[in-house]
Amino acid sequence: MEKKNIDWGNLTFSYQPTDYRFVANYKDGKWDEGELTTDSNIVLNECACVFQYAQECFEGLKAYTTEDGHIVAFRPDLNADRMYNSAERLEMPPYPKDKFLEAVDKVIMANEAWVPPFGSGASLYLRPYMFGSSPVIGVAPAEEYQFRILTTPVGPYFKSGIKPITIKVSDFDRAAPHGTGHIKAGLNYAMSLHAIITAHKEGFSENMYLDPATRTYVEETGGANFLFVTKDGTVVTPKSDSILPSVTRRSLMYIASEMLGMKTEERPVRFDEVKDFAECGLCGTAAVISPVGAINDHGNLIQFPSGMDEMGPVLKKLYDTITGIQQCKIEGPEGWVRVIK
Ligand code: PLP
Ligand code: COI
Repeated sequence: MEKKNIDWGNLTFSYQPTDYRFVANYKDGKWDEGELTTDSNIVLNECACVFQYAQECFEGLKAYTTEDGHIVAFRPDLNADRMYNSAERLEMPPYPKDKFLEAVDKVIMANEAWVPPFGSGASLYLRPYMFGSSPVIGVAPAEEYQFRILTTPVGPYFKSGIKPITIKVSDFDRAAPHGTGHIKAGLNYAMSLHAIITAHKEGFSENMYLDPATRTYVEETGGANFLFVTKDGTVVTPKSDSILPSVTRRSLMYIASEMLGMKTEERPVRFDEVKDFAECGLCGTAAVISPVGAINDHGNLIQFPSGMDEMGPVLKKLYDTITGIQQCKIEGPEGWVRVIK
């Protein structure tokens, strides 16, 4: 199989249609078998629930080529679980977890020519998503749904790659207490668009959202969870009911404590402790770990000792370990890597 003629090393995080996508439909109370299609367009009724009431959820995961030429996906079972939970919260019929994994395998194999080669720094991003496809006008869930997985080859999420970024404390909230911050619903991201554009216009890469009820605790950014490192090397991550349970964060916390013997804490993190940390990073599928060099809090700049040139040593160790596991250079815990081919 010949790879596509792409400048893999210079890919950014942007959409490029590949040859195939997976699509399944839910009708009359059941999901059909689903199939691959070459058609990247979706035709829906003007009154489809997704258009009127944003009944949609999604996932994000990556496939990699390993040094010995295998293609693997990183912990897709956790994406299947999380999408199941998102669907239930949005009154959608969850897509069966075993079918989710089968669809992941199929769509990666069909797009094998688009999986970036080992060592290119790029990966194939998979975006599973589902939405209410039948018309509703009174506020109600749809009766029919579509589940799809599109794939696109991607490079780093932030333009700076793994160079430290500067973020700002947002005056907007991305989630409400007892709302939908803990699921991956498109509506959370619609909420964040004005905040991210505002941050970009002011020269910041991302927003730090604080807890919407009291604005005293750290939550997450628009597309990643936070990791902090204390001056004595403890890895700390915020605990909150309104942040997304990141697969990357859960994996990194496990790597830190179980593989690297580091001390870890998952607990509420007060914003006023942030200035005392030695390192700060954002973690997620798209970002992997992106170091934060500084945080602007309404004109007051918090600068981390790790500086603006490179990732701090503890986050770098975590970054090297997780990327090593993802590409099968380092043996990870059992079941973390799904071999597709
Ligand atoms: N938080 C938000 C709001 C996200 O959109 C994402 C991206 O998926 C994450 C965190 C990171 O989650 P994961 O590591 O599962 O990709
Ligand atoms: C991911 O990391 O997969 C995400 O979905 C984050 C962002 C692109 C929304």
